Amino acid sequence: MCGIVGAVAQRNVVPILLQGLQRLEYRGYDSAGLVVVDQKKLQRVRSTGRVAELSQRSANTSGHLGIAHTRWATHGVPSERNAHPHLSGDLIAVVHNGIIENYEELRTRLTAQGYSFTSDTDTEVIAHLIHSHYTKGSTLLAATQATLAELVGAYAIGVLAADNPGQLICARKGSPLLLGVGDGEYFIASDMSALLAVTKRMVYLEEGDVAEISLSGYRVFDAHGKSVQRTVHTSELNNESVELGEYQHYMQKEIHEQPQALANTLEAVCNSQSLIPGIFGAEAAAAFTQIDSILILACGTSHHAGMVARYWLEEIAGIPCTVEIASEYRYRTSVANPKTLVVTISQSGETADTLAALNHAKATGHLYTLAICNVPESAIIRQSKLRLLTRAGPEIGVASTKAFTTQLAGLFLLTLVLAKQRGKLNAEQEQKHLHDLRHLPSAVQAVLKLEPAIAKLAENFANKHNALFLGRGLHYPIALEGALKLKEISYIHAEAYPAGELKHGPLALVDKDMPVVAVAPNDVLLEKLKSNLQEVRARGGELYVFADANTRFQSSEGVHVMQMPEHAGFLSPILHTIPLQLLAYYVALQKGTDVDKPRNLAKSVTVE
Ligand code: M6R
Repeated sequence: MCGIVGAVAQRNVVPILLQGLQRLEYRGYDSAGLVVVDQKKLQRVRSTGRVAELSQRSANTSGHLGIAHTRWATHGVPSERNAHPHLSGDLIAVVHNGIIENYEELRTRLTAQGYSFTSDTDTEVIAHLIHSHYTKGSTLLAATQATLAELVGAYAIGVLAADNPGQLICARKGSPLLLGVGDGEYFIASDMSALLAVTKRMVYLEEGDVAEISLSGYRVFDAHGKSVQRTVHTSELNNESVELGEYQHYMQKEIHEQPQALANTLEAVCNSQSLIPGIFGAEAAAAFTQIDSILILACGTSHHAGMVARYWLEEIAGIPCTVEIASEYRYRTSVANPKTLVVTISQSGETADTLAALNHAKATGHLYTLAICNVPESAIIRQSKLRLLTRAGPEIGVASTKAFTTQLAGLFLLTLVLAKQRGKLNAEQEQKHLHDLRHLPSAVQAVLKLEPAIAKLAENFANKHNALFLGRGLHYPIALEGALKLKEISYIHAEAYPAGELKHGPLALVDKDMPVVAVAPNDVLLEKLKSNLQEVRARGGELYVFADANTRFQSSEGVHVMQMPEHAGFLSPILHTIPLQLLAYYVALQKGTDVDKPRNLAKSVTVE
């Protein structure tokens, strides 16, 4: 989705803007642009290519104040004329993330006032509205505030004026935006990773905030125009955490970061002798005694994590759990049970559908909300009473990997805490689970050693058009996740089924051209799964079986068995995810697709 960077400094800001945009490339975009003020004139450069092309085109551009943008088209096709920044005359420049819902009405009004439009975007109305207030004598801050009062929709914006070369205005409502505080220089960005090369000190703007930034400092005003102080956070991350390092792709890097990401997420628990509700927030202990069920809301990969959690929560904690796709739940008339704990799961914490589902749940009477999320200060974190931060670090690859396994770790902790509180976990069981969690990072490390063998296996997939993934029980959602990974980055059509469902329809698809991937842990459903796989083999389907030790699967003609190092009990879904991530990655490499930025997809889906 769209990305924003802005800077005011005593040095040329163009390299800062371009480096920031490069850091935001992972979010997905189809055009990019920047504008700087140079000798009280706007200099704008735009491109429908990559940021690298924008960089070449900006070679002769410089200025001490500028804003830049990567655009993921919503209103208007991807083209240079629709790329941001948008200007009003030679005076005002604006970059915008989000959607202005009443832009048509505003456009009609502004056209009648004599403004002409050069793009099909909703953003251009913002530039003209600010222009209309500014040229009537308002300050840039007041002109922006007056404009925001007329907008319906979501926005994060950066604004500058040619005749005001030392000032940058920004605002947010519904889309994330933060300020970066440097030494005598200030920045804005939609995502912290864009600024890590220039500062680690960040101020997260809150809903409705407007900020006025200059070389001498910044002031923040809340939605009512009142001057407010916002905390300056020092990021734990460094610039290297968003560098590719020795890896070929971010996805590969992030797959390999999973042992550390899991260790970080589980740190507080693994260093302790017992499980306490406090890891979900100070109010968790009291809230957990009030609840009688769980409702999980999420999208995509995060939804798959929720599906795994349902098995854990019902089996281990004995608490009823439903899992719903956020984009469906938000529009469904549902019956709220005020004693339900609503759990949202999100890597970004900004997914529009998940956020809307959370607000819908609250509006229908749900009282208890818990976010499991990877981004501190994100909207979903801020709007939930209870929270658990997964500590996966920045996930740059569009295909979610370490975010998923750390979400699973967080959900397992929730299960154990609830189980303990409900008297379903005795001291011995608690210690056993803690032991297994402490061992988890090294168990994942052992699975990663399968990488060369999986890379070899992937060669068989490169010329396939379809694939079927099978799993049972806890591992059915892992089959879904494996299929999602494959389709996202290799563009091979892949579907997942609970293996027992095969003969109720999908078996008709099976022939020699259909690879069938089976997740085969050593659990109570193993023998049932084996029978299902016989059905596939009998129809000529080629099997790729990811089997735990001691499952007695043998490779033979048409049957490729990948031996997993050990069976991890309830944590097995986490281990079984890793080979499927690697499989998708190496198939995509074979096919030469853009692994980190697959076509049509964006990292954070901040629009509906
Ligand atoms: O940031 P979120 O976890 O809320 O994102 C939800 C989905 O958009 C995301 O998981 C998506 O499905 C990924 N591309 C999957 O790899």
